[in-house]
Amino acid sequence: MKSLARESGLMRAFIDDVDLVVSTAGDEHEITARVAERLSALLAAGYRLPPELTRASTERHLTYPLHIAADGSWPLASVVWDVGQRTGVHSHETWGVAGVYAGAEHEVRYLKPTGSAPAGPLTPAGETVWVPGQVTVCCTTDDDVHAVEAVGAVPTIGIHVYGGDIAAIRRRAYDPATGEVTWFVSGWDGVPGD
Ligand SMILES: [Fe+2]
Repeated sequence: MKSLARESGLMRAFIDDVDLVVSTAGDEHEITARVAERLSALLAAGYRLPPELTRASTERHLTYPLHIAADGSWPLASVVWDVGQRTGVHSHETWGVAGVYAGAEHEVRYLKPTGSAPAGPLTPAGETVWVPGQVTVCCTTDDDVHAVEAVGAVPTIGIHVYGGDIAAIRRRAYDPATGEVTWFVSGWDGVPGD
């Protein structure tokens, strides 16, 4: 899929930096720490998303592709929740770094169950309200289970970097009360009229 972003100089430099990190860094913990530094700097520098990638839907949260690496190794997404929208508890099955661009995001984290059988209720592992300019390492492959809710007065927009094609990866949706897993593939959302 082609990139939907008009690439500003700030974004071009960010993409070049992440390409370098992904191709040279060691494990997921090093990659995510270095990507988080760069995403923090991008937000602090006042990067502005293309307006068409900030539109919310009244039906559900949307995930727009902002950039996809030439070799497909990492995508950058603009994720938009209308006021009050929330996700279920889900996994990512790869590393991920998320920065808040607008609104406020309430994140509830859970320990990732090991083994294939439902292990019973998920174990909460903390919660945070993230606000614009803040960046979090949401995921490494072994620690990637959370639910998020848009709690600001305006739509919540996140800029997310992932270690694989997040739109195509088979991911887990959890019933936190039972640990039961349902697999899903999220896909990308398109820009209306594009
Ligand atoms: Fe997530």
